[in-house]
This record gives sequence, structure tokens and C-alpha cells, in this order.
Amino acid sequence: MSEVRKEILIAKADIDKRVQELADVISRDYEGKELILIGILKGAFVFMADLIRYLRIPCQVDFVRLASYGAGTMSTGNITISKDIETSIQGRDVLVVEDILDTGLTLSSLVERLKKKDPRSLKICVFLDKKDRRKVPFEAEYVGFDIPDRFVVGYGLDFNEMYRFLPDVCVIGES
Ligand code: XMP
Ligand code: MG
Repeated sequence: MSEVRKEILIAKADIDKRVQELADVISRDYEGKELILIGILKGAFVFMADLIRYLRIPCQVDFVRLASYGAGTMSTGNITISKDIETSIQGRDVLVVEDILDTGLTLSSLVERLKKKDPRSLKICVFLDKKDRRKVPFEAEYVGFDIPDRFVVGYGLDFNEMYRFLPDVCVIGES
């Protein structure tokens, strides 16, 4: 088996600084309010865990898990929920937390679904954004880093369930 080469794209220290900046902006934007964060499993769990510890507003957390279509890296756009949220979001301020925004198909479909539950507000916070890859127009209100069209792992992101534990965001390739 050939060795897998890992190249650091975003280092742990830069991630930490940026997550803190995002949390500051979110805390200011939602001052005096109470937020429900909805994390998309599994990828967002590391980002969300770091983010909430820098927030200075009261918040609750919930998670949604979308059915995955095997080990593929392509999004189909037609999402199926395999674990739904357990909190009522009607009349609440909701922030969806996702690891990476790519084609936009997953998030636009999830947002449509969540809007039907009648939240007071609904915004999106993504750790990474691959803007060049969009297939549907979709923007997140809060973005950690814009990245080029490269497949990345680490900080919660996986390749076939591996590498989620890496503290840096890395690009992998065979050497
Ligand atoms: P959309 O629907 O925006 O889906 O295409 C975004 C989802 O695609 C996955 N994704 C990645 N996962 N490294 C990963 O580990 C990547 O570089 C990457 N790009 C897209 C991810 O599951 C995300 O939720
Ligand atoms: Mg994901």
C-alpha cells in the first residue's frame, strides 16, 4: 500500500483564532437572545464543540444526521434524515452548524426543511466554504475559511471515516 501524504492547509492555531473570531461576531449578533445550534453529524462535531465554548450567549444544542450514500464524496442533493432534531425550533433563533459548504445542495435542502418548522430566524455557520463548487446559489452568514477545490480532512472531516481526529485541516494525496 502506498503511503498517504498529508499536507497542512489550515493549522490548528489559525483554526482556533478564527473560531474565536466567529464566536465573537455571533455573540454580538445574537446579544440578548438565546440560540439553538443545530450541528450536522458527523463532520460538524469538532467545530461545534469549539465554537460553543467561545460563545458568550446562552445556547442549546441539537444535531441532525443526514443519511449518507456510501463512502462517496459526491452530494446528490436529495437529503434523507437518519436522525432528526429533538428540540422544537418554532419561534426560536436557530443557527445551523456545518463542516463544509460545497455544492450547496445539502444545506439548501436542509434549510427548506427546517423553515417549515417555523423558526423565528435561521442562519448558517460553516467552518469551510468551497465557493467555486456551488451547483445551487447558497451563501452562509458565517464562514470560517474559504478554501480552494481540494478534498480536505481533519478537524472533524473524514475520508472514508478516517482522519476526523487530526487537529489541522489537511489535504491528502498518495505518494
Ligand atoms: P454539499 O451538498 O454542499 O455537501 O455538496 C457538503 C458535504 O459534502 C462533504 N464534503 C467534504 N467532506 N472533505 C470532506 O471530508 C471535503 O473536502 C468535502 N467536500 C464536501 C461534506 O460531508 C459536507 O457536509
Ligand atoms: Mg458532512
